[in-house]
Amino acid sequence: MVKIENLSKTFTTKDGKLIQALENINLDIAEGEIFGIIGRSGAGKSTLVRCINMLEKPTSGRVIIDGRDLTTYSDRQLRRARQQIGMIFQQFNLFSARNVAGNVAFPLEIAGQPRRVIQEKVKRSLALVGLSDKAGHYPAELSGGQKQRVGIARALASEPRLLLCDEPTSALDPQTTASILGLLRDINKSLGLTIIIITHEMQVIKEICDRVAVLNHGRIVEAGSVLDIFTAPRHPVTRELIKSILDTSIPEQVLAGYNPAGTSLLVRLSFIGHSAGEPVISRMIQEYNVQANILYGKIDHIKDTPFGTLTLELSGQPDALNAAVAFLHGKQLSIEVLERQ
Ligand SMILES: Nc1ncnc2c1ncn2[C@@H]1O[C@H](COP(=O)(O)OP(=O)(O)OP(=O)(O)O)[C@@H](O)[C@H]1O
Ligand SMILES: [Mg+2]
Repeated sequence: MVKIENLSKTFTTKDGKLIQALENINLDIAEGEIFGIIGRSGAGKSTLVRCINMLEKPTSGRVIIDGRDLTTYSDRQLRRARQQIGMIFQQFNLFSARNVAGNVAFPLEIAGQPRRVIQEKVKRSLALVGLSDKAGHYPAELSGGQKQRVGIARALASEPRLLLCDEPTSALDPQTTASILGLLRDINKSLGLTIIIITHEMQVIKEICDRVAVLNHGRIVEAGSVLDIFTAPRHPVTRELIKSILDTSIPEQVLAGYNPAGTSLLVRLSFIGHSAGEPVISRMIQEYNVQANILYGKIDHIKDTPFGTLTLELSGQPDALNAAVAFLHGKQLSIEVLERQ
């Protein structure tokens, strides 16, 4: 649905210095998916999202939405195209002098829609975000989470097919973040809306995204399904971002209590999805004549998929250990031999 081809953006500062904010970005975002773009501060995330709806003109490259190349559009054509693209912001960007209904109505008024249609759409949008009872309230009377719901209602009012979110939960506490992410997930499902979400928080990616691209110094260093990226990150920046929320390292006190005797191996298994339910460990013990001592285990979820790690100490004869490790490699799980005694 959204295709970004060889997109670059260079800013020229007032004193004539060139800043390359984006370099040769290529992305293909499918209809109906929730696509995440993650990166540290200054990586170029906001610039990228602003290039998608042409609030920022790319220096080179193309942005193709539904087969139409927006970089060739006139300002007038762009204004029309943007009605199909909703956007929400970290700081909500609401008009403090307008009440909730007035904020949601704003883009419809700009588009010159008839009053009656506007009223109908405002009502429907506010119901979608659970704020029907707040239509007459002013932004100052709302919590952060409620303000973001107004932002979402405003973005949805013109029935866009694509929703761009620039750090939508960065100003919110964890609980409110969860409720806003839940709402984005619901509207993605119920409306079939394609969502692009920019964030510096891996938690956001883990909760709701299908695929993710990692942006670093203006370049995409890694992209793929969230499950693949989380279970096998390749780039150091990705590893660092994941570590903050999915710490699979073994706690010190566990290692301190680990006292190898005889021939043993320390292995870490990662289970994804339903292989978590298979009796792999008990079969290994029975068939290969090894002992397994569970040192540490953890289970988590990536979107709807269970993901777990289990650290085992395996002991037995060297041949039996090798055969057991080969058996584990053949299963639908990833195995890492941490230490050989
Ligand atoms: N209008 C501008 N003029 C000059 N430089 C700019 C402009 N906008 C952004 N930049 C520069 O481009 C780079 C990327 O900025 P951008 O705002 O896209 O990063 P970001 O990933 O959104 O960061 P943050 O997480 O802090 O919001 C930065 O080096 C920034 O200073
Ligand atoms: Mg930004």
